[in-house]
Amino acid sequence: MPDYVERTAYYAEAPLALVIGCGGLGTSIARALGRRHALLIVDLDGGRLAQTVATLTHDGYTVAGHRCDITDPAQTKALGEVLAKSPGIRALAHVAAVGMSIGDWRKMMAVDLVGAHLVAEAAGPHMVSGGAAVFISSLASYLPARDAKLEALLAEPQRQGFLTALADLHGKEPDFDWTYNYAKLGVNMLAERLAVEWGPRQVRAVSLSPGMIDSPMARAEGPTLPSHDGTETRVSRGDKAREIPLGRQGSMIEITNVVDFLVSDGASFLNGIDIPVDGGHRAAWRAKGVIDR
Ligand SMILES: NC(=O)c1ccc[n+]([C@@H]2O[C@H](COP(=O)([O-])OP(=O)(O)OC[C@H]3O[C@@H](n4cnc5c(N)ncnc54)[C@H](O)[C@@H]3O)[C@@H](O)[C@H]2O)c1
Repeated sequence: MPDYVERTAYYAEAPLALVIGCGGLGTSIARALGRRHALLIVDLDGGRLAQTVATLTHDGYTVAGHRCDITDPAQTKALGEVLAKSPGIRALAHVAAVGMSIGDWRKMMAVDLVGAHLVAEAAGPHMVSGGAAVFISSLASYLPARDAKLEALLAEPQRQGFLTALADLHGKEPDFDWTYNYAKLGVNMLAERLAVEWGPRQVRAVSLSPGMIDSPMARAEGPTLPSHDGTETRVSRGDKAREIPLGRQGSMIEITNVVDFLVSDGASFLNGIDIPVDGGHRAAWRAKGVIDR
């Protein structure tokens, strides 16, 4: 018997914060949302998940982990069954995504877009009234020009023949940069659709598009980025950061702070939009005619 009284997690029976992906940004977001909610963290990587749960538990959070490959409908269905036995979800932060290091554009699309759809299907029925979901997208979602055919395709990424139809529309198999751009546009569209579907239940959905953020994922992608000047050339991260009106990349905490606000009651009338958190990078791209919105 310890000779002290342990704190009991008084909010363990209250609705959860569900965080999908416990990489750099996911863990930062979990730390913020876990100050007010019991946490359920989901990741494919069992070792990373166990380590994150152990560290957060040590730091006093009420936290559980659930291993799940979000590209596998059987596994996201099982996640839904776990959520059905929970007190419900007050805040959902969908963060998991992969970059070009995955080495296959089809797999990238499966994680970055289909995974978001499967998570929404699993979590949606368990969101409680007053709850909110934030889908982490990317400023890259603004790069495809507006196109009704493209948007109709991206709305249904689980449809048979989706990848072939996308490659046909693109003119060839998209490279990793374009796959990411399309997947993240699809994520924005998903959040917009969910806002309409979930709104009558008093559940909000938004997407958040980080610009250039210093994170483990960004560093793993290498020292260069596409120039977005209409050529195939790449530029250094430093040169890219100088395009941003604030003249620097952002930090994970600058994204986390906005997520924390978006799921809070302070944002209770904010629904169905994308929020770029990018130091003004989108505005600079628009001024240069790189993007059309
Ligand atoms: N860093 C930037 O500059 C930048 C810019 C724009 C957007 N973003 C977005 O921010 C997020 C970055 O998050 P992060 O820093 O936590 O990334 P990260 O790479 O550190 O972590 C991603 C996590 O997702 C998990 N994951 C991968 N595939 C999975 C699957 N199939 N099922 C379940 N989990 C899976 C990984 O195991 C990992 O823990 C991504 O959505 C990314 O697209 C980042």
